[in-house]
Amino acid sequence: MKFGIIGLGYVGLATLCGLAKAGHEVIGVEKQAPKLEQLRGGTIPFHEPGMAEVLQEFADAITLTDEIAATEGVAYLFLAVGTPSREDGSCDLTFVDDVLAEVKTKQKIVIRSTVPPGTTDLLKVMYPAHTFAIVPEFLQEGRALADVLKPHRVVIGSEDLEMCEELAGIYGRLGVPLVCTSPINAEFIKYASNAFLATKISFMNDLSRLADKAGADITTIADGMGLDPRIGRSFLNAGLGYGGSCFPKDMNALLHVAGDNGLDLPVIRAAAETNTAQLHYLLSKLDVTRGMRVAFLGLAFKPGTDDMRDAPSVALAQQLLLQEVEVVGYDPLATWDYRQAATAEEALAGADYAILVTEWPEIVNLNPEAFAGMRQKRLIDARNAWKFARDPHDVQYEGIGRMQKKTNTPTSK
Ligand SMILES: NC(=O)c1ccc[n+]([C@@H]2O[C@H](COP(=O)([O-])OP(=O)(O)OC[C@H]3O[C@@H](n4cnc5c(N)ncnc54)[C@H](O)[C@@H]3O)[C@@H](O)[C@H]2O)c1
Repeated sequence: MKFGIIGLGYVGLATLCGLAKAGHEVIGVEKQAPKLEQLRGGTIPFHEPGMAEVLQEFADAITLTDEIAATEGVAYLFLAVGTPSREDGSCDLTFVDDVLAEVKTKQKIVIRSTVPPGTTDLLKVMYPAHTFAIVPEFLQEGRALADVLKPHRVVIGSEDLEMCEELAGIYGRLGVPLVCTSPINAEFIKYASNAFLATKISFMNDLSRLADKAGADITTIADGMGLDPRIGRSFLNAGLGYGGSCFPKDMNALLHVAGDNGLDLPVIRAAAETNTAQLHYLLSKLDVTRGMRVAFLGLAFKPGTDDMRDAPSVALAQQLLLQEVEVVGYDPLATWDYRQAATAEEALAGADYAILVTEWPEIVNLNPEAFAGMRQKRLIDARNAWKFARDPHDVQYEGIGRMQKKTNTPTSK
């Protein structure tokens, strides 16, 4: 079959690679000229393993263009453009609208972007010539291709039975559970999944502050909780809070949709508030004064990616810069607009504090000797991940929710 994919970011490119690998002919449309040029040259504009190899291996089946009109006549047109937050937190559908306004011939459209519940039904009314389905994407950055090739599930939302059946046939070959439902349910499943994961993180972050006060260790608590299969260990790590291009914007969009429906979602609102509060809690652990220097070990919102969208490191740096504290960052892949060091040791040299921001293997395994050049050897582990945390050495260590008291005496107020 022949497919068109509009928007060659993380989701669009992963979709394109997955379809090409499955033996289909694909036309990828990207409007950013530099990105398109890079892709045509076989380079992926961001860090995602395996994609460059697919572009090369299936080059004959892949067309890369900036012309939406080139997709005329494809069996399906996949939309994977961005859906960022507006000022007020609502989801901005301008890119989706712009694309649909340009698709002149009757088309079967598959929305892969994350759009608020109700959007696909609305699009059907606004663009009656087309047939619509939504297949939300659940990939994790850093393993986008692997996730597209073997997702945990595929959710297909469409009111068009024929389209549902065809898409179920295409995705059915992946051999993973399929959920075929209405568009609004499919849209909801995506937001609910992200909101649930974000809430798990914030739940542990709330408890981490109590653990610090009460003298308990949040990582041991998470390990103990996680052994219960009803809870699971994933997304129970306390730390600096969630970031990235999805969780913050999707939480805001969900709260906004609730508001539009005259509702508040107190749990989700609290999870979002906790996420902001946790950043300030981390800052409260630093006793900094003007002119001090803070080294950031890791910049990306999580290891395995160079994506800096909504990375907590930037918000943290901005707060420190307001206090006229110098910041210097090191990350194996990601870059930022502030001072950047080529190695962790270079970032640490002359610093008064180090903050472990991203739990890259090379950072969590840093030897205590790597901290030798610091003016004051103080490490705030914002991911509770440093491997040497429990060994005696001369780095003054503090995690999040790990202020274990020396005795077992119960605390009393
Ligand atoms: N990144 C993720 O991990 C992830 C995971 C699941 C879902 N999503 C959702 O998928 C959507 C895309 O996310 P992303 O991270 O891939 O975004 P992205 O910003 O990396 O990619 C979007 C691409 O679309 C292009 N584009 C916009 N308008 C266009 C047009 N008219 N014609 C051609 N190209 C156009 C942009 O130039 C950009 O390259 C968003 O709704 C996001 O919430 C993202």
